[in-house]
Amino acid sequence: MSDVPPGAVTLIAAVARNGVIGNSAARIAAGAPAIPWRLPGELAEFRSITMGGVLVMGRATYDTIGRPLPGRTTIVVTRDPSWSAEGVLVAGSLESALAVAAEVGGEVFVAGGAQIYALAMPLATRQILTLVPADVDGDVAYPEFAAWEWRETRRVRRDGYERVWLRRLPSSRLRRFAFERYLPRKPGPAARVIAGLAFVSGLVAVSYWLFDLARQHGRDDLTAGPRPVILILASIAYWPAACLFWWLLYPRSGRSMPWSSIDERGGVGHG
Ligand SMILES: NC(=O)c1ccc[n+]([C@@H]2O[C@H](COP(=O)([O-])OP(=O)(O)OC[C@H]3O[C@@H](n4cnc5c(N)ncnc54)[C@H](OP(=O)(O)O)[C@@H]3O)[C@@H](O)[C@H]2O)c1
Repeated sequence: MSDVPPGAVTLIAAVARNGVIGNSAARIAAGAPAIPWRLPGELAEFRSITMGGVLVMGRATYDTIGRPLPGRTTIVVTRDPSWSAEGVLVAGSLESALAVAAEVGGEVFVAGGAQIYALAMPLATRQILTLVPADVDGDVAYPEFAAWEWRETRRVRRDGYERVWLRRLPSSRLRRFAFERYLPRKPGPAARVIAGLAFVSGLVAVSYWLFDLARQHGRDDLTAGPRPVILILASIAYWPAACLFWWLLYPRSGRSMPWSSIDERGGVGHG
């Protein structure tokens, strides 16, 4: 049974390390490939993930495929009211495509390209991203998104790529309101200094409180002289609070693809 709640909108895309997802119509006309890599296993997996669902795609993406994909309902978004193709539903906007998709029923996948991903990103509840481990030549890129609003729920390593499942954090609206406007997305030097000061002052406050508590309970053995035990206890007590503080401020630093975590691990396919 699907674990996807009703009303979920899933963006599904394959993205190169440099953000490229394909080529524009002009480049394709000049001989460039629509998708500048070949990952047959990835296509098969795309098929099995989306089978039985609804695919919402831009007219340009549809043109590169040239036919409705079997076993799925295809809805093409276009501003051209005269556009039609056999076996395909047509919508004049993303919103009306999603309304049609709701009527059709089944899981809704936004299948690109960049223009349609960008329109759908604010509404998306999930992203399923294939991370292609190469910088690729192309002029159409996946839209940037606030990575800290998303939680990675699953990651699988396949032959030649990784696939990650991201779910929008339920509280992201609140956190966006609270923090996004006032804080840099990536912790710069000033933010690090502030966080460091907050950590140290919090630790001092907790130590002071523990010293006081020990004195009140007559535990002079703990407070007399240089007793590191109190500081160790304070560190242990304060550590979760400090983590929470950092997590709230910069739970997913950066406004980028989940490549950052891969880069830290030395790159896909190199580990
Ligand atoms: N790697 C991947 O996972 C992946 C997935 C999908 C696509 N791609 C690639 O992405 C490229 C195409 O992406 P793209 O960004 O150029 O095009 P696109 O998003 O597929 O389609 C753009 C078209 O959508 C329609 N459209 C856009 N905004 C609209 C709006 N607000 N209201 C109504 N219609 C709207 C317009 O169609 P009209 O011009 O007809 O009005 C527009 O030309 C291709 O190279 C494709 O291969 C890659």
